[in-house]
This record gives sequence, structure tokens and C-alpha cells, in this order.
Amino acid sequence: VKALVVYESMYGNTARIAEAVAEGLSNSMDVEVFEVGSAPADPSRFDLIAVGGPTHQFGLSRESSRRQAAEDADEPLISEGIGIREWIGGLGKVKGGAAVTFDTSIRKPNLPGSAARGAAKRLRRLGYNLLLPGELFLVEGATGPITDGEVERARHWGQRAAAALASSSPG
Ligand SMILES: Cc1cc2nc3c(=O)[nH]c(=O)nc-3n(C[C@H](O)[C@H](O)[C@H](O)COP(=O)(O)O)c2cc1C
Repeated sequence: VKALVVYESMYGNTARIAEAVAEGLSNSMDVEVFEVGSAPADPSRFDLIAVGGPTHQFGLSRESSRRQAAEDADEPLISEGIGIREWIGGLGKVKGGAAVTFDTSIRKPNLPGSAARGAAKRLRRLGYNLLLPGELFLVEGATGPITDGEVERARHWGQRAAAALASSSPG
């Protein structure tokens, strides 16, 4: 059983969460992790795809929001090319593929919007079975750091995704 983790990240926070999700998945499956710019365009050989990115302007990043992120950065961004919006946009329709989505966003009580939910909606339209609701992991500010406990929670969430795949598979 194989899982693909694809992440987009400006400052490294979502990358770190993605590594933790991969660790959780790897308890029960083979896992490959890719930054979105180098992720395979055809993920059909994977039983599960886990896709995550930063929430920008209440949803998935765009070229314009990534440019804004670059202006706020002291160092080069991790994802300097496409985001997960564009990666998902290049995928074909599937029959029976399984997926989960996650994002990182700022801890603010009334801030709406989620890249994880946006990604889930798009994957569902392509025919993917979303095994869990899109999961949000918190950062303290635009460049981080990740809120205490969230890396551990991401590891556990990866385990849950693997368990959800096992119980959704026939036989
Ligand atoms: C241009 C821009 C727009 C953002 N918009 C939102 C937003 O609408 N809601 C939110 O919770 N966080 C927002 N953030 C904060 C990001 O979610 C945060 O930078 C991200 O989680 C950090 O992850 P990364 O290091 O992987 O990029 C925004 C950040 C940037 C740079």
C-alpha cells in the first residue's frame, strides 16, 4: 500500500506538517513526500494522496498571493513555482482514488476559509473519495512558528488517514 504526500509551503510550516503527516502514514504504508513543484503529475500508482498547503486569502494560494508571500520573506520561498491549486488542476478524473487534505492557517477565532477545504472540494469533483474532512493545523503568524502540539497532532492525523484507508478498502 502506497501513499503520496504533496505539499506547498512558503516559509516551511506546511512542509514540516507534511513530514509529520507522512510519519503517521508510514506506520502502516510506504510513503513518498514531494514538494508540489516536483510532485508526479499522475498519482494513479498511489492508493492514497495527502495534499496540503498554506491558507492564503481564505483559500488555496494563487500566483498573486504567493508573490505577496515572497515580498514578506527574508529567504527564498520553499514553493517557488506552482501551488496545490495548479497541481490539482492538472490531474485527471479518477474512479475510486482516495485522498485527504490539510492546510496551515493563522490562529484567529473569526478568520474563515481553508486551503484544505478548497483542495478537498476540487479533488472530490475529480472523483476522489475524501476519507476525512480537510484538517487545519495552526501557526502563530504568517511565517510561523507552528503552534505547540500541532506537529504531534499531524502525526496522529496521518495515522488516522491510514486507518481510514484500511477500513474503506474492500476485503
Ligand atoms: C498572502 C497571504 C495570505 C494569507 N491569508 C490567510 C488567510 O486568509 N487565513 C489564514 O488563516 N491565514 C492566512 N495567511 C497565513 C498563512 O496561512 C501562513 O502564512 C501559512 O500557514 C504558513 O505556512 P507556510 O510556511 O507553509 O507557507 C496568509 C499568508 C499569506 C502570505
